[in-house]
Amino acid sequence: MAMGLVSWRRVQTGFLRGAPYKEIQASWRAYQENLEPSTVRGIPDVSINSVQQTGAENGSSASLELDIEHYVVPAPSTSANSGLVYAANMTETPRSLSRAGVLSNADSSGSVSHSGISVDRPALIKDMEVSVPDPSKVYSSSGMVESKSVGTFSPLQKQDSHRGLFVDRGVGSPRLVKSASASTFNIDLKLDTETKNSMPAAAGAVAAAAVADQMLGPKEHRHLAIVLVGLPARGKTFTAAKLTRYLRWLGHDTKHFNVGKYRRLKHGVNQSADFFRADNPEGMEARNEVAALAMEDMISWMHEGGQVGIFDATNSSRKRRNMLMKMAEGNCKIIFLETICNDRDIIERNIRLKIQQSPDYAEEPDFEAGLQDFKNRLANYEKVYEPVDEGSYIKMIDMVSGHGGQIQVNNISGYLPGRIVFFLVNTHLTPRPILLTRHGESRDNVRGRIGGDTILSDAGEIYAKKLANFVEKRLKSERAASIWTSTLQRTILTASPIAGFPKIQWRALDEINAGVCDGMTYEEIKKNMPEEYEARKKDKLRYRYPRGESYLDVIQRLEPVIIELERQRAPVVVISHQAVLRALYAYFADRPLKEIPHIETPLHTIIEIQMGVTGVQEKRYKLMD
Ligand code: F6P
Repeated sequence: MAMGLVSWRRVQTGFLRGAPYKEIQASWRAYQENLEPSTVRGIPDVSINSVQQTGAENGSSASLELDIEHYVVPAPSTSANSGLVYAANMTETPRSLSRAGVLSNADSSGSVSHSGISVDRPALIKDMEVSVPDPSKVYSSSGMVESKSVGTFSPLQKQDSHRGLFVDRGVGSPRLVKSASASTFNIDLKLDTETKNSMPAAAGAVAAAAVADQMLGPKEHRHLAIVLVGLPARGKTFTAAKLTRYLRWLGHDTKHFNVGKYRRLKHGVNQSADFFRADNPEGMEARNEVAALAMEDMISWMHEGGQVGIFDATNSSRKRRNMLMKMAEGNCKIIFLETICNDRDIIERNIRLKIQQSPDYAEEPDFEAGLQDFKNRLANYEKVYEPVDEGSYIKMIDMVSGHGGQIQVNNISGYLPGRIVFFLVNTHLTPRPILLTRHGESRDNVRGRIGGDTILSDAGEIYAKKLANFVEKRLKSERAASIWTSTLQRTILTASPIAGFPKIQWRALDEINAGVCDGMTYEEIKKNMPEEYEARKKDKLRYRYPRGESYLDVIQRLEPVIIELERQRAPVVVISHQAVLRALYAYFADRPLKEIPHIETPLHTIIEIQMGVTGVQEKRYKLMD
């Protein structure tokens, strides 16, 4: 209690100088009315409580009879509950093909146009399949690898120069912009959240790094292409989808381009293994053409402001990669991401999943025939496979299980590539559930006050007990599971009846900091601080409470939590708060940033995220109203 008062006074004294006294008074009154002695301070950061609690309502003795299926409620329809959808189907719709009438033979004029922008396509197959240069020379200066075509995006480059450089802001604070010609930052008062730009909609480190890279790096390095490399059934599409989700969540405009999708649209789903033979000239030409079309679409999208393109194909020969590097010249930086797997069991499992899920085999009624055809296809690729040893690359070798493996990194620098490597080092496909829940109802929830650090209401206490029973039943055979809470007492108290699992307090899981509005009701904010109320309503994602946080700030501080959730191999129960759970859930459900502040996260409901080889699936349990 004393600690709370001291810290409040410090804030109050500092703030009085600049803020309207009325606002302080309202906030201070709310704080005093709500002040409850903390019953949980002094709990160590990690505690293990192995004593079972008994005798409570829905106590442990009854818990093993608990039928958890009884509490299942429908989840909103998002990608997280359609985990069995083949990841390639969720990728970008091929623009060049739909523009050309989708299945009609694609534009043969050699010129395509995106949103009125004309992009010369190389007279590709023939012109691009030049002899393979010495990789060390690919990156040398002029002439060695001549770009015949793509790169003439002058109309867009002009537009680019008018585009401001985006820097983090909380609404309330204006946005900083830097004109391409000026060397100083100006202040942009526009609240245009939809403006397309190549800078991430992000706060803190992500925004700072983006500014630094934009100021210092070569222009083409403002756009990054992660080009997957690897034999079929090595988890490329899955890795690409996961990386796309992570980068989007961090605020980078990221798209996943799957060449298989282009191939299926242009050449149908029933191509046999022969189509993939390296000595089949028609097949080679068709495959190179769709790869070039996808690359063109990706580059066009980058010129419209897209930041990171994930280019998903086998790209397993140096010749193919050389073609892509030439197309990328002057447009984007390429990092190859090669996935290598030497574990026969994992490959066999992936092959079987492919036959079940890939549209390539949707019309093949005979599973064994599909299996044989796919194995023949794989053998065709193996004959000509050339591992990457050129340019900038990341090689993931036997990393799927999360046990050991190797990651090799060559010629990688910069903030974003560094983050990508860090993410890839920490992810794996071991199936495990992650249970997300808000704390039980708090006394502040009852009064409609935001923030604060009150204890649970009576209903909240009942939820805590029900949750303990649920967790005991759901994770009874998962002794390595752990319970994560914030440092606020309503989450710690919600976790307290759960026995037998380590409990970890994370400051990063604390609720969004409402700054001077902490302890107020929304009505009080509307009445006393109407401009703040309106600013938040207008742009809830970027709005930063005076002396507090925005949703973008929350996302930024949650990144280590996401990395740790990815890294964990055992189940985790996360007991946190509304804004924080919105942000965490959005990562798993791949929901766009702008939706995050509006995602429904009801009290007394558990969202179970199942992580696994086929992606992410979601199940919800509503334990009480
Ligand atoms: O009302 C409960 C609460 O957790 C507050 O403490 C917090 O400020 C708020 O939810 C976040 O939700 P929103 O962003 O919709 O105001």
